[in-house]
Amino acid sequence: MSEGAAKKEEKPRKFQAIRGTRDLLPPETALWNRVEQTAHTVFGTFGFGEIRVPIFESTDLFARSIGAETDVVSKEMYTFGGFAEFSAKVREGRMEGMLSEMPPEEMISLRPEATASVCRAYIEHNMQQLPQPVKLYYMGPMFRRERPQKGRYRQFYQIGAEMLGGTDAPAIDAEVIETVMTFFDRLELQGVQLDINSIGDRNCRPKYVELLRAELLKVKDKLGPDSQRRIETNPLRVLDSKLESEQGIIAALPRIADHLCEECAAHYAAVKHQLEMRGVIYRENWRLVRGLDYYMRTTFEITAQGLGSQNAVCGGGRYDGLVELLGGPPTKGIGFAIGEDRLILSLQESGKAPAPQGRDVYIAWMGEKAHATAIRAAKDLRAAGFSVELPPIEQKFGKALGQADKLNARYALILGDNEVSEGLWTLKTLADGSQQKLTEPDLLQFLREQKPVSS
Ligand code: HAM
Repeated sequence: MSEGAAKKEEKPRKFQAIRGTRDLLPPETALWNRVEQTAHTVFGTFGFGEIRVPIFESTDLFARSIGAETDVVSKEMYTFGGFAEFSAKVREGRMEGMLSEMPPEEMISLRPEATASVCRAYIEHNMQQLPQPVKLYYMGPMFRRERPQKGRYRQFYQIGAEMLGGTDAPAIDAEVIETVMTFFDRLELQGVQLDINSIGDRNCRPKYVELLRAELLKVKDKLGPDSQRRIETNPLRVLDSKLESEQGIIAALPRIADHLCEECAAHYAAVKHQLEMRGVIYRENWRLVRGLDYYMRTTFEITAQGLGSQNAVCGGGRYDGLVELLGGPPTKGIGFAIGEDRLILSLQESGKAPAPQGRDVYIAWMGEKAHATAIRAAKDLRAAGFSVELPPIEQKFGKALGQADKLNARYALILGDNEVSEGLWTLKTLADGSQQKLTEPDLLQFLREQKPVSS
């Protein structure tokens, strides 16, 4: 080994989380847990049951559902060869020819979203035989290779819900939206704004898309390169554009609301009425088209305060026909997904983050006998629901109390030889420095009258 190589070995590489991914640490994770717990509770009250789908699926499942031309599928998926033989050949640098040999179902991708997986599971488990609609919710990490920035990550978390089967009654659309609005309300999310739209169905949308394309072609030269490309691939997405110079042009384009077929127009009107019956406040936004291909009729997006440019905290819509597209029976479907990272950011910005977690009791012990008592006391206090810090090695009382302070403990339980032999334990209240002597049962009684910090 050369000298240079030896030197390199001495200093191990410092690893960092991969760009676009991050560690979630305490005390922030307490907020994540509170949000997730609230989701379990609120979604439960609307009759949703939790589904856990795999982190990776066949690439083809996502391509077919989300659309091969969408940004998510064409640019942002993490895709691998699925079988061991392939992976081994890649490692050995013998990959040539493998890609073409590989049947498409062997390619797998990290899930960029979960609606496709939920539909796959609905078919795979014959859920059409259950009482309809089937109401499912999920939470967990999703993966998209986007350019990372505040509120946009490559591994991000979604909390989503899907209602599958049964009718496409507008009351279902409204109830799905009411579910997420109730959840946000329970979390006291600030500045919540719900935008809704209808993007029509197989009958009326293609005609509108053609009209839009024709209009866009007339102003092609005034559009930026992204929109110019989208005139061909997906003219609806031009409406999504945030480019300042395009706003005036877009405002003058034909609006889908004026081109819906009779059924879609009636459905949209009824959805709005159903929302009003539920007291859900919405804004109509004819430019809301969403970036995934499976949508039809109702689409919606929710923004919240404190998020800057990535301010969509939830997106969703109706996707009748997706289950059928994946080989299942004709099935209605509607759902949404919340960006949990953004939800947390918004809650933090409005001061809803919980205080750093402290401890109820720090046990400052000295001496072998006291250690045994301290271990027993910790067990009893924890069983009673208190959070307890038991130092693993003996420390001088002064140092122990300093440590208790740093950990934000409410009380220090002081156990030395005297305390153990007398059976009277010293409890110090750290906020005011006051001390009291208590027997073991009295101590437990006293603390029970206080509220544990961990509750
Ligand atoms: P989506 O609009 O692609 O919809 O994503 C939903 C939400 O996930 C977004 O509004 C945003 O809050 C969050 N999100 C998306 N990408 C990122 C990212 N890179 N970093 C952080 N947050 C992100 C869907 O995924 C559909 N499956 C929703 C749905 C369910 N439609 C019907 N059912």
